[in-house]
Amino acid sequence: MVEIAPSILAADFSRLGEEIQAVQNAGASMIHIDVMDGRFVPNITIGVPVVRSLRSATDLTFDCHLMIEDPDRYSPEFVRAGAQMVSVHQETCPHLHRSLQLIRDHGALAGAVLNPATPVHTLDDVLDLVDYVLVMSVNPGFGGQKFLPLAVEKIRRLDRIRQERNLAFRIEIDGGITLDNVGEVIRAGCDIVVAGTTIFGTPDPAQAFDAVRRAAEQTQLLRA
Ligand code: DX5
Ligand code: ZN
Repeated sequence: MVEIAPSILAADFSRLGEEIQAVQNAGASMIHIDVMDGRFVPNITIGVPVVRSLRSATDLTFDCHLMIEDPDRYSPEFVRAGAQMVSVHQETCPHLHRSLQLIRDHGALAGAVLNPATPVHTLDDVLDLVDYVLVMSVNPGFGGQKFLPLAVEKIRRLDRIRQERNLAFRIEIDGGITLDNVGEVIRAGCDIVVAGTTIFGTPDPAQAFDAVRRAAEQTQLLRA
């Protein structure tokens, strides 16, 4: 089943609780939380205290995307704050195997993220240790950027590898998702679709969530 993960980066931060409630009421099962440190990426966003207080406002699954240097220093804290899914960038982890294991040891699902310039084969030796692979379809740092089509081939490749090696990791896509390209990424094999601006950048996020979900469902029917 494909899940839609609204990215709160595009939400109104003065009303975060209400914004999340709106997509939850519309049927969302998870939200995507972008953590940026102003070093690995040129932007600063959300930290552990915000995740902790959101935890008491909703029971949705928290998918924390760590765009930070030295993520091992913080990943356990994000799990303790309430994240059930934590992903780290391949580019920030010289000991990626250990970084993924650390997240699992603390009880969360572990994801490995690939920047647009990072090839799929760099994950070959950890694919049996990841719960999901996040394919970036923009250069990380900001919402509202244009989708990079090279991500579609990466999804196809990952989907092929998991079939060949009989692995069960999920494939997530993040960046520039719209009603026009959501079908294409699902057809390529994507299981989790992050959407920020397309959902929270609209006057009615609940309705926008519903539109993305319906577009995803239509494609799934075709894929099945
Ligand atoms: C970008 C973030 C994304 C961002 C996506 O660095 O990782 O999660 O919120 O936003 P949109 O959907 O607007 O591209
Ligand atoms: Zn993200």
